[in-house]
Amino acid sequence: MARILITGAGGYIGTTLVEMALAKGYDVIALDRFFFGEDLLEEFAANPQFSTIKKDIRDIRADDLTGVDVVVDLAALSNDPSGELDPDLTTSINHRGRVHVADISREAGISRYILASSCSVYGFGETSELTEESPTNPLTEYARSTFDAERAVIAMGDKTFCVSALRNATVYGLSKRMRFDLVVNTMTRNAIDSGEITVAGGGHQWRPLVHVRDVARAILNIAAQPAEKVNQQVFNIGSENQQIRCLA
Ligand SMILES: NC(=O)c1ccc[n+]([C@@H]2O[C@H](COP(=O)([O-])OP(=O)(O)OC[C@H]3O[C@@H](n4cnc5c(N)ncnc54)[C@H](O)[C@@H]3O)[C@@H](O)[C@H]2O)c1
Repeated sequence: MARILITGAGGYIGTTLVEMALAKGYDVIALDRFFFGEDLLEEFAANPQFSTIKKDIRDIRADDLTGVDVVVDLAALSNDPSGELDPDLTTSINHRGRVHVADISREAGISRYILASSCSVYGFGETSELTEESPTNPLTEYARSTFDAERAVIAMGDKTFCVSALRNATVYGLSKRMRFDLVVNTMTRNAIDSGEITVAGGGHQWRPLVHVRDVARAILNIAAQPAEKVNQQVFNIGSENQQIRCLA
């Protein structure tokens, strides 16, 4: 079975993807700085198909990728507020760090590289429907660095190096590492903790949404496609668009 290396494997999407990739029979290498703790993946420690590398993506070297068939690049400072805290750091991880991972992957002869991009590259949508051809308008440090990384890695794709980027909608659902800064999860927690959901500004804004397990499924699906179908392509990954007021 193929071997998959997942950066950001200790995160919200990553911990779910690790579990689902192992269940599909992949050998999984989980690479992360583990900001949120290594114990989240502890239950897989005894699995011979699972290993971890504790490392910053900016320090990845070709020998970390020995025997790897697919690299899934999830590691990032993953939301707008943390992206604004230190714009240089955000660029260094979310843009240059990911380009470095793609560069090293290509150098190491890996045939597949999949980037977790974001629907935030479209800006704040005024309409409910956006396609991959819709104009982009990244408005925050997080969105700009994501978009810069996406453009750079897509351009690296060629006959031997298949590159795809998934523009994920706002994710929701349970994971080993929970994120309660994401709208559905925030509302759910508030409803349980205080019995109230607060909607600011009328709640007319649209949000594309997707369940965390569907994101993992999409990644594994794209990894299994023939290269010529997915190379140098971006894919919107979302299951529905909702106005915040309807969501509440
Ligand atoms: N969750 C969402 O709603 C959503 C939506 C769109 C796109 N995305 C993208 O999906 C990816 C994963 O998001 P998530 O929700 O799982 O975020 P997360 O914050 O839960 O996980 C990110 C992981 O990356 C690791 N990391 C951060 N910087 C690192 C570095 N320099 N080196 C090594 N590891 C590092 C962290 O330790 C963490 O485990 C991100 O690229 C994010 O931008 C997420």
